[in-house]
Amino acid sequence: MEQFDFDTLTDRRGTSALKWDAMTEAEQRDGIVPLSVADMEFKSAPCIQRALIDAARHGLYGYTGTDDAYVNALRGWMKRRHGLDFAKEELSIVGGVVPGLALSVRAFTQPGEGVIVQPPVYPPFMSVVELNGRKLMKNPLVREADGSYHIDFAQLERLAADPEAKLMLFCSPHNPVGRVWTEDELKTVWEICASNGVMLVTDEIHADLTHGKRHIPMKRINSSAFILNAPSKTFNVPGLQLSNAIIGDPEKKKLFDGELWKIEGGSMPYFGRAAAIAAYNEGEEWLTSALRYIEENYRLVQEFFIPRFGNSAVSPMEGTYLAWVDFRNLGLNGKELESFTRNECRLLFAEGYIFGSEGEGFERMNLALPRQELIKALNRLDEGLRRHGIYAE
Ligand SMILES: Cc1ncc(COP(=O)(O)O)c(C=O)c1O
Repeated sequence: MEQFDFDTLTDRRGTSALKWDAMTEAEQRDGIVPLSVADMEFKSAPCIQRALIDAARHGLYGYTGTDDAYVNALRGWMKRRHGLDFAKEELSIVGGVVPGLALSVRAFTQPGEGVIVQPPVYPPFMSVVELNGRKLMKNPLVREADGSYHIDFAQLERLAADPEAKLMLFCSPHNPVGRVWTEDELKTVWEICASNGVMLVTDEIHADLTHGKRHIPMKRINSSAFILNAPSKTFNVPGLQLSNAIIGDPEKKKLFDGELWKIEGGSMPYFGRAAAIAAYNEGEEWLTSALRYIEENYRLVQEFFIPRFGNSAVSPMEGTYLAWVDFRNLGLNGKELESFTRNECRLLFAEGYIFGSEGEGFERMNLALPRQELIKALNRLDEGLRRHGIYAE
């Protein structure tokens, strides 16, 4: 098996990397450890780097279409990894999964109508609803005593039955709580939406990042489903801006494409295509190694928090590379917790409160980073907690 290097930290300063640019100059100098924005601190697979270098060498970067080489690579990947096939006619290309969510809001609802989301959830699920003048309808996830999250199906039924509810944006696997939904859960979500005439759009961007659990695409639950996915999280190529909308229902596809065409969107990015073909055809071994590395990082995080904060502090990370950690025992509100972790511990997390009020007192830690950086972060946290007086003497 090929060896891949996940241990080396690459200096991203000066590349306009969002995660690193979020730091002040002083923080960058001090070496604050960033565990925030959801991209990896790992270089992409060698096969992807080679494909991009070849594509760059070509020297001509003109308008590009969705050809069979791309569709077949994606279909092969989806069949092998997720047991799902789809037809070329069901595929639309979008410049990102978030734009896909926003276009769905515009395609399937009118201003003022309701969109169901499940906080704590990736913030754009809420902003694309509100910024487009639609009404947010919250079906908060329920946190169990062991730190895992479940869907409140009774409340979801009630929301879906409200005539205002027209669309549900469903995150599967779920960012930030790390759930990989079971077949029964997926079927129930599908049935509740279908029986109440609520359009369901499923964001499956984290589909390939699972740890011992099997992700089931919603399109396997029902062939007419609408799913969004991308190579971006899986292979750490979000800057190449390529994502897939796979829409089983032709009428719904017409509506979605109508919105896409209004912004003249939907074109294939030249470099994104080159990277994705290589990734889908040759990237599996790299992904397997990256997942193993992330799982070992997760084990270290559990080892750190369980003795300090208790067994339920870290929600089971069934999917994603994002650990969801309960800091509420510190007795700090969201802003105070942010100041503690950032200023006292010199760590940059994704603050729990950005995922909705349900995330207040939590932090989301990105575990796709070199182990030494994670260990540095945990040591800093340990020192900060000591100064905070969390440990009984
Ligand atoms: C659930 C989810 N959807 C979408 C995105 C971003 O998608 P894109 O960069 O393709 O717009 C993220 C990134 O963190 C995410 O976690």
